[in-house]
Amino acid sequence: MAVHKVTFLPLNKTVEVDDAKYPLADHGKPGSLLDIALANDIHLEHNCGGSCACTTCHVIVKDGAENLSEMQEDEEDRLDTAVGLTIRSRLGCQAVVRGDVVVEVPES
Ligand code: FES
Repeated sequence: MAVHKVTFLPLNKTVEVDDAKYPLADHGKPGSLLDIALANDIHLEHNCGGSCACTTCHVIVKDGAENLSEMQEDEEDRLDTAVGLTIRSRLGCQAVVRGDVVVEVPES
């Protein structure tokens, strides 16, 4: 068990999550940024329901990229189609939090 701090920008809202309690909201991968956002009433689009089939959960990692699960091929392929893609982009439903992290939710 470990508690991680996740900050969502530009809201600047920080939540603490206990990874022993994953999944939190049952959306996307257990403990993903989407799972955490929805469990804490933070708005993050998720048109496909968290199954890596859209890009509406796109986030940009500002800090703590090493504390997210490694990107899998399906996420990489899907992310390629995201609007405003950056080298720090991840899909919120696929990136699982394993440490402190700061992410920005781009304006849609
Ligand atoms: S919610 Fe559709 S890819 Fe993440």
